[in-house]
Amino acid sequence: MSPRSGDHAPRPAAPSKITVPDVRSRKGGEKLVMLTAYDAPSARLVDAAGADVILVGDSLGMVVLGHENTLAVDLDDMVRHTAAVARTRPRALVVADMPYLTYHTGPRDAVLAAGRLVREGGAEAVKLEGGRRRVPVIEALVDAEIPVVGHLGLTPQSLHVMGGFRVQARALEAIDVLIDDAHALVGAGVFALVLEGVPADVARLVTDEVPVPTIGIGAGEGCDGQVLVFHDVLGLSEGPTPRFVRRYADLQAAAVEALARFADDVRRGTFPAREETYRLPRRVADALDERRRRGTAGRS
Ligand code: KIV
Repeated sequence: MSPRSGDHAPRPAAPSKITVPDVRSRKGGEKLVMLTAYDAPSARLVDAAGADVILVGDSLGMVVLGHENTLAVDLDDMVRHTAAVARTRPRALVVADMPYLTYHTGPRDAVLAAGRLVREGGAEAVKLEGGRRRVPVIEALVDAEIPVVGHLGLTPQSLHVMGGFRVQARALEAIDVLIDDAHALVGAGVFALVLEGVPADVARLVTDEVPVPTIGIGAGEGCDGQVLVFHDVLGLSEGPTPRFVRRYADLQAAAVEALARFADDVRRGTFPAREETYRLPRRVADALDERRRRGTAGRS
């Protein structure tokens, strides 16, 4: 059978899967877009929006699981949620956060934990927090063929050491430490670096110094990319948001309004409507009516 002429019409090329080398090569080029996602629906939305990287962040603990901070998130949580994201087979690169206490106890533990995120969760890379002290862990992960994203500045897993979620690297000494840490992580093999909660000048300095892309959150405009939390971008989080969050929608209000209309319809008896219910075939409905008329509701 000859193909119809339409079959030869040029089709837009399917956008190809984003890989670790793709992300690495964006240093100084087109800005990288990273967004968090924690399940299949959020991953589909983020991927459809054209993000380059989906971060299954341990912010999961706060925005999905209702914890005060990220410390309660464990490896099983991260594996389960990473797997839900990866099952959608997104074009974006899937990076999973290594939760608290899965890499602080040494390289072997870190490789086993990250291995679960890759094998069971389908992660294509992992992210972990901290400076030069993480070098042996990062080297072991890279040795095990697991690509690593570093995370410096405000590192939420160090909440108690920092004394709260505070902007970091504001003094000259701390700036030097941050820059040295960035170089140490790059030396250990990270392919990208998240910079969180640092002054814009400092993030720009680090960005100019390191050969891998920096991805900022609360780190100003000078980074090679930006990341925000899904719920913050869509206005799905409650309470005040930090200054670096830009809300692009107010889905919280829209969702409450829609759910309240459903509740109202149920209470007024206007839901479900006839076209929203299943009906018996005419023949069976008539037979049932006939039974009712004869006063035999059951089988007889
Ligand atoms: O867990 C997370 O969402 C993160 C981003 C804020 C970078 O680490």
